[in-house]
Amino acid sequence: MTVLELQQYKKDRKKLVVVTAYDALFARIVEQAGIRVILVGDSLGVVVQGKPNTLTVTMEDILYHTKLVAGAVQRSLVIADMPFMSYQASTEEAVRNAGRLLQAGAVAVKLEGGAVMADRIKTMTSIGIPVMGHLGMTPQSVHALGGYKVQGKVEDQAAKLLEDAKTLEAAGAFALVLEAVPAGLARKVTQALSISTIGIGAGPHCDGQVLVIYDLLGLFDSFVPKFVKTYAHLKADALQALGRYKEEVEQGKFPSDSESYH
Ligand code: KIV
Repeated sequence: MTVLELQQYKKDRKKLVVVTAYDALFARIVEQAGIRVILVGDSLGVVVQGKPNTLTVTMEDILYHTKLVAGAVQRSLVIADMPFMSYQASTEEAVRNAGRLLQAGAVAVKLEGGAVMADRIKTMTSIGIPVMGHLGMTPQSVHALGGYKVQGKVEDQAAKLLEDAKTLEAAGAFALVLEAVPAGLARKVTQALSISTIGIGAGPHCDGQVLVIYDLLGLFDSFVPKFVKTYAHLKADALQALGRYKEEVEQGKFPSDSESYH
């Protein structure tokens, strides 16, 4: 999957399926499942590193996980999330850090924020770095937003989000994540743009959807937002398996003759 192929999806009215992955094992499973867009999300700060938010994730973290994912897949488009403070301070710093992520194997980068990010996106795209935007509930602004809250519920907020979306498209973003916004607003944004919107907690009208892999597999249950659909219960399966393993070792049932060398 290339960025150009991804852009064709909207024209062909085909839904884009995106999921996060942080290591080679899950990246290969995602690819085997036929999902062609993988986001190395800074959500790894929460689901892999066990932190309360994404703010402590570093460039080194994302570089490491991007290398693991990009090195494991053959057909998928790998998008690396730009972590907090890797692009906010200046356009120059943003461009250098985006370049490092492409050198690590990503094909594109994602960054959070509205019109204020337009100059960064313009510069990156002009030198060949594809950029995906991210509007609505932007987790790196969790403190400014007063928590993980639905965004764009009031009229002026919704109007600003729509304007920001148009600005990011004009700046050259090839797609846009819409996180935790009312479905009606997501529909309006999706209809107003020629680039794809990828929803997470943004209702059914976006051009595509993204979920955090450990959420959809039922592995991460510390906090499950309303928008998550759990397609498997792997934490429960893991607990059951580990419980049986513990019991069998304690009771001398494992290893048995069939797991022994002769
Ligand atoms: O970090 C992440 O995984 C994300 C997606 C949830 C959109 O930004």
